Amino acid sequence: MKLSVPVTGRAAATVAVAVATLFTTGSIAGAAPAPKVAAAPDISVTNVKAHLSQLQSIATANGGNRAHGRAGYTASINYVRGKLDAAGFTTTLQSFTSGGRTGYNLIADWPGGDTNSVIMAGSHLDSVTSGAGINDNGSGSAAVLETALAVAAADYQPTKHLRFAWWGAEELGLVGSKYYVNNLSSANRARISGYLNFDMIGSPNPGYFVYDDDPTIEQTFKDYFAGIGVATEIETEGDGRSDHAPFKSAGVPVGGLFTGASRTKTAAQVAKWGGTSGQAFDRCYHSSCDTTSNISDTALNRNSDAAAYAVWELSQ
Ligand code: TRP
Ligand code: ZN
Repeated sequence: MKLSVPVTGRAAATVAVAVATLFTTGSIAGAAPAPKVAAAPDISVTNVKAHLSQLQSIATANGGNRAHGRAGYTASINYVRGKLDAAGFTTTLQSFTSGGRTGYNLIADWPGGDTNSVIMAGSHLDSVTSGAGINDNGSGSAAVLETALAVAAADYQPTKHLRFAWWGAEELGLVGSKYYVNNLSSANRARISGYLNFDMIGSPNPGYFVYDDDPTIEQTFKDYFAGIGVATEIETEGDGRSDHAPFKSAGVPVGGLFTGASRTKTAAQVAKWGGTSGQAFDRCYHSSCDTTSNISDTALNRNSDAAAYAVWELSQ
């Protein structure tokens, strides 16, 4: 949902392109064609929440969780894959074994773009066994899904190739994302120009944390938040505790967003973001109360828009 339009270099460039086009149609001989710059769409938080309610229903119907090796996980994969297939993505399931159970990564490629320069966005789709995992990590999974569906709806054709991923067995030690990275050839690894990670982006007492790994990716997210007037901090709550870590270890530039887990929000953080001081960012972290009630719609909205902004900005 639209909060406000971030005024950025890109937005200014879009205006410049429009002006140049007017002059070009007036046929100024020899004018170089201006590069086309597309602006990211506003992501509908209503749509993102609809995905969360589907993931909640899936957990409820399958013993209360969407954990690795359980029926709720395969149902989650099928839900996300169905949406992507219908939208025109090329989807692939990558299977692996962990703890004697089969796990899956879902990879969705958007046809087109330079496959020697790939921008990836991903999130873990598995929950812990103790709950439905709606903030952890239905939130990132739904935002990445809605961003991918927005790419299709816009028929966005960036210069880079876009790939979206939903990882399995993150909760067992980043198992799915490690498997994916370990099974990439070194040539294919080198083709990934950036990996963006979204794990817990709708915490009910949210902070706005940006990973400080690759400076360009970090700055892209910071630009988005500056444009909507929201302060950010560097993510430090267990740096490396999510699926960007294997990419980073392999030399891929990474970045991402996070709204906090079991750490408590300070008074200084409440002054900048509101919420409750002395209380965890997510009091339901890894527990049975991580349901659709455990979401800040505002945080989910801002971070979903930021995800789309970064995917658009970094791919053209
Ligand atoms: N990945 C952790 C989980 O799924 C949550 C987490 C802790 C996290 N610290 C983080 C996610 C930092 C992203 C960044 O339980
Ligand atoms: Zn978790």
